[in-house]
Amino acid sequence: MKRRVAVLISGRGSNMTALIEAAKAEDFPAEIAVVVSNKAGAEGLARAQAAGIDTLVIESKSFGKDRAAFEAKLQSALDDNRIELICLGGFMRLFTAEFVQRWQGRMLNIHPSLLPSFRGLDPHGQALRAGVKISGATVHFVIPETDAGPIIIQGAVAIRDDDTAETLAARVLEIEHRIYPDALRLVASGGTRLDGDICKTSANASLDDSLISPSVI
Ligand code: GAR
Repeated sequence: MKRRVAVLISGRGSNMTALIEAAKAEDFPAEIAVVVSNKAGAEGLARAQAAGIDTLVIESKSFGKDRAAFEAKLQSALDDNRIELICLGGFMRLFTAEFVQRWQGRMLNIHPSLLPSFRGLDPHGQALRAGVKISGATVHFVIPETDAGPIIIQGAVAIRDDDTAETLAARVLEIEHRIYPDALRLVASGGTRLDGDICKTSANASLDDSLISPSVI
């Protein structure tokens, strides 16, 4: 049985689209059962509908600071759809610790940096200002702290001297679209195990996959 997944979005939904595309494969262990947006105007809603996926809007703005009331409505939509796993894809709303605990080990997020570096806003600007030579993206289980939690998978890109936050974001986004489906495949097929704060996976690192940046010769 495929695991039933809700993708939560607030905007463009390109990671959501990558998950929808991957989940079309017959052997993919999860199906995208519903896409939920907390913003009525989210671009990703039309993309999901075009792909034949059920969508829901639960406007968080109307709940103001009452995060628990928003989450109660969200939880009942998740229950109605018999959701087993949540994937956050650019979902720009913080959860209460209670909601996060309820979904512990069953809620994934993607962040466009090699966590634990550069959490929060403008991760690409942060990376460029720090002068790091490699950046990337991380899929992790959600914990109450923002952009933190057991790391499931990471992908890296080399940073170029002439990169701007925009050019770097574009290259990292390509990596995001590769690693998020891989992470969901791992989790949905039971290929992850939590060892304290560490996520162990059934997949192996390929030993020849090293990235050196800059490449000197
Ligand atoms: C993605 O780059 C995702 O990594 C980032 O928001 C973007 C959403 O794009 N998430 C975060 O920064 C979380 N802290 P998308 O709507 O096209 O998937």
